[in-house]
Amino acid sequence: MNEYLERRKKLVSKMPKNSLAIIFGSNTQIRNGDVEFPFRQNSDFLYLIGFDEPNAVAIIESDDSGEFTIFCQDKDPSKEQWEGNRMGPSNCKKIGAKSGFSIELFNKEIPKFLINKERIYFQKNLNNILEDEVNKNLTLLKKTNSRTNNFVPEEVHSIDSLLHEIRLFKTKEEIKIIREACEISSAAHIRAMQNVCPQMYEYQLEAEYVHEFMKKGARNCAYPSIVGGGKNACILHYNDNKDLLMDGDLVLVDAGCELKGYASDITRTFPINGKFSKAQEAVYEIVLEANKECIKTVKKDLTPNETEKKAIEIITQGLVDLSILNGELNELIEKGAYRDFYMHRVGHWMGMDVHDVGSYGLNGKWRKYSPGMITTIEPGIYFKENLKNVPEEYLNIGIRIEDDVLVTEGDPEVLTSSVPKTIIEIEKVMGS
Ligand code: GLY
Ligand code: MN
Ligand code: MN
Repeated sequence: MNEYLERRKKLVSKMPKNSLAIIFGSNTQIRNGDVEFPFRQNSDFLYLIGFDEPNAVAIIESDDSGEFTIFCQDKDPSKEQWEGNRMGPSNCKKIGAKSGFSIELFNKEIPKFLINKERIYFQKNLNNILEDEVNKNLTLLKKTNSRTNNFVPEEVHSIDSLLHEIRLFKTKEEIKIIREACEISSAAHIRAMQNVCPQMYEYQLEAEYVHEFMKKGARNCAYPSIVGGGKNACILHYNDNKDLLMDGDLVLVDAGCELKGYASDITRTFPINGKFSKAQEAVYEIVLEANKECIKTVKKDLTPNETEKKAIEIITQGLVDLSILNGELNELIEKGAYRDFYMHRVGHWMGMDVHDVGSYGLNGKWRKYSPGMITTIEPGIYFKENLKNVPEEYLNIGIRIEDDVLVTEGDPEVLTSSVPKTIIEIEKVMGS
């Protein structure tokens, strides 16, 4: 609870005096009939409050040194019989709230929080119903308080830039959890390398990941696993995972567990029969060099743009070496000749969300890496089957190598370094 209090204190220290933050949680979503999708709390709400029930709202006041009020579901024995325990507003001290109300009373109670505040913050377009209730109450308050000495907030702001700037810098506690998530996901990739074989279905290889995640204490995946054999590896967010894995093909697996609300995000590409072909090796070595060299750029005072440039330079040079591109390196880079083969960016922030919040620029410039930030590094090369000017032997090869990297005061710390990534290491672990 102390960790959450510290986070709220950081938020409050960035809010102007006499302002109010309204933090919406997530609601359940219907899958079909009376079946719901698995519930995942909104990350902003989880970050600040640590409360994992649906239909909750937290109110944080700038003059309150990190205390908060919670609106949540009422106790309801008949619903709890089916859905499990609810905390209920009267038990709100359990989560460190100073007061609790039924979520049913949100519309009635919110005006008391809004009145005489200068500025309101909330997450826009997250909960349209409650956002609408806040806006309607503001309009009503303006009418009913005209010609009184009360004032009604004129400024309604998105909370995103304030809060996400805080979330970008991970605390020691967060790093500890992410490190553990990365270790579990690393073990899962090793398990998959040891258990893959031709004629397995992609989803059966996916099962090896889910098994290892859950066995090691991570209940969920951080995102839908991508398990693409052969040409499926060239579809960036392929997750049908329903084809047979064929002898002689590579399989690209982008899979990471979520632990206590924190993501890990790892990609490895390995030969289904345990041995890379010469053509696969040639492409793999380019992506591996890009991965390793880009990781070296994740250093205090460099920027994500320098990492991107490094990836583009190595991939373009590699494509020239394979005689797929012809011309002078800088000109090829300038005209984006690599884009048919490498069409995504080399990394993204990672935290509670796999593609985590936090800006990449500040005041119109790329922002610098700073200790506590975590980024992925994930260069790739994809030769779709219909590409012209690509020798037959490379067609349908898709390779990405993705690691999660912590920015430190010194050298970057690769949180996913225990998964093999050189050809020798991969073949060895597969052989074993
Ligand atoms: N797993 C999605 C990504 O790597 O960005
Ligand atoms: Mn990934
Ligand atoms: Mn990623």
